Formats: sequence, structure tokens, C-alpha cells
Amino acid sequence: MTTRRRFCTWGAGTLLLAGLGVPSAFAAEARTLRLSHNLTTAHSVHKAMQVMRDRVLELTDGTLSIDIYPNAQLGNQRESVELVQAGILDMAKTNASELEAFDPIFSLLNIPYLFESGAHYYRVLEGDIGRDILGATAGKGFRGLTYYDSGARGFYATRPIESPADLKNLKIRVQPSPTAIEMVELMGASPTPLAFGELYTALQQGVVDGAENNPTALVTARHGEVAKFFTLDEHTRIPDMLVISEASWRSLSNAHRRALRLAAAESMASQKAAWQRASDAAVSTAKEEMGVEFIEVDMAAFAERTRPIRDRVASQSSRARRWIEAIEAQA
Ligand code: GCU
Repeated sequence: MTTRRRFCTWGAGTLLLAGLGVPSAFAAEARTLRLSHNLTTAHSVHKAMQVMRDRVLELTDGTLSIDIYPNAQLGNQRESVELVQAGILDMAKTNASELEAFDPIFSLLNIPYLFESGAHYYRVLEGDIGRDILGATAGKGFRGLTYYDSGARGFYATRPIESPADLKNLKIRVQPSPTAIEMVELMGASPTPLAFGELYTALQQGVVDGAENNPTALVTARHGEVAKFFTLDEHTRIPDMLVISEASWRSLSNAHRRALRLAAAESMASQKAAWQRASDAAVSTAKEEMGVEFIEVDMAAFAERTRPIRDRVASQSSRARRWIEAIEAQA
């Protein structure tokens, strides 16, 4: 509301200045970008994108606005990235798992146990490799703008999972990503690819026995109402990613691009601390209000099973091998 009001004020100011013959750096290029994502408005990633939207407005004298459409109103992650790729939608928040279908290079970020800690993950994403991955799809209709923290993923189900043996024959929802499918198969379970928005009903109706995600999914998507056991096996740290259509990017002025890049980077930094708070709060709510039990496990047993994935992704290309080795060297 405040932002809108400010936007109107600036808009009037710009017109007024133009009327007086005072040029504004942005006067002729007012634009609105549409951004789709599948999370709720309570999620830290949604809030970070609001920070970006407000900052962009500020940096561009109100001439570049972003309309954010949450809750998959404009389509699920796959559909949204397809629209972005086709130049029909400007921006989408997705994640590296979903993006594997668009370019195999993203499987790099989905290798189980590649990142040894949150600090390792940030070293990579904030460094050269993180930057290069954002630009990797520039010739494919979209490019990455920034990453958002989505924590470490674990299995959660209607039954306790204490070792990979407990996964045997369970139907586990995964994102539609070849690496996620392979990971769950190697653990001995049956992977069921589904869009995030379809998962609550699938859990409730017993179509799947469980899923894997970070703890906020228990609360923001209410999965903890059905799945009462969350295993802290931390198999992957898959970043959420903000992407923009090449067509939209090319149509922006240099000043707008600079403002968007800066605002996106600032929103990533703001979400870093917010993520940890949101994740801790989700664990408390899931435990205390939803009765979810969190299970500590021997992660090495899970890591052992998934080792072939690293080798398979490394054999994909010399670039993938080089980047995996560089990521490991930063642990
Ligand atoms: C994470 C991510 C979502 C994604 C979801 C999933 O929660 O933030 O964007 O859709 O995982 O498992 O589908």
C-alpha cells in the first residue's frame, strides 16, 4: 500500500518535472514486470521479493514496477518458467530442481551432499560459480537474477524414516527433476513427481506416503497436518532461483537492468538472515502446534547411497566436472 502510494507520488512528480521541462533519467521508460511464484505471501522468499520490488521502485524513481503473483496463480513453477522462456511472462521464482528440465547444468546444484554446510553453499552461490550458473541459460530464453535460501531438505512422511532402509517401497513425492527421481530411487523408494501445489492433497489422500523439502513446507503449505515425521537427513541444499525472460531483459534500459540487478542482490542478502528465522520458527510451530516429530539420523548412510549421482553429473560435461571439483574445493 505504502509502496503504491509512493509510486503514484513519484509518477506525479515525474510528470510535473517533465511539464516544467526538467528531464528525469527514467521519464520515458516506465515499465511493469510480472513475476510469478508458487509460495504463500507468508514465505520469506515472497517477502524478499517484496524488498526487491520496493528497492527497484526507489532506484528507478518509480519507473520500474514489479507485480508479484504468489500461490501459483499464474501457473506452477514449470508452467511459469515456460512462459518466461517464451517471453510471455517477465519473471518467475523457481528452484534449481525445477530448472533441470530446462538445462542439465542445474543438476549440479541438486547433487545430494555436495554442500557440506550453509556456509559452503553461500560461498559457492555468492562466488564465480554462482554467478556463472545464473548466466548459463542466456541463450535459452531466460537468465538467472539471484538465489534465495531454501535450506536443507529432508524426508517427511506419515511414518518415521530413521535410515534409508525405512524408505523401501515408500511412495515419495519429488519435484519433476531427473536428479531428485534418481536420488529417491537410489534410496530404495518410489519417486512420484508432482507439482508443489498438488502435494497437500496427494499426502492427504495417500497417493504418496511422504515427500522431501525444507521444514517451512510443513507449515506454509500445511504438510505437517498430514506428515508427522520429519527426518533431518539434509540430503540437498537446493536454492530457489529468480529468473527473467531474455526478451524482457533485452527490452530494459541499462539503468533499469542495473537497478534490477542491485535490488535482486540486496533481496538475496536480506533473505539470508530471514530464512534462518523462518526455518527455526517453522520447526517450532511444526513441533508444538502440529505434533511433528523431528528425527536426527546418521547422514553418512544416506550420503553413501546417493554417491553415483555426483559421478553421473560430473560425466555430463567437462564444465560440470570442473565446477563440481571447484565446489568441493570450497568446502
Ligand atoms: C521449495 C521451494 C519451492 C518448491 C518446493 C518443491 O519449498 O521453495 O519453490 O516448489 O521446494 O518441493 O516443489
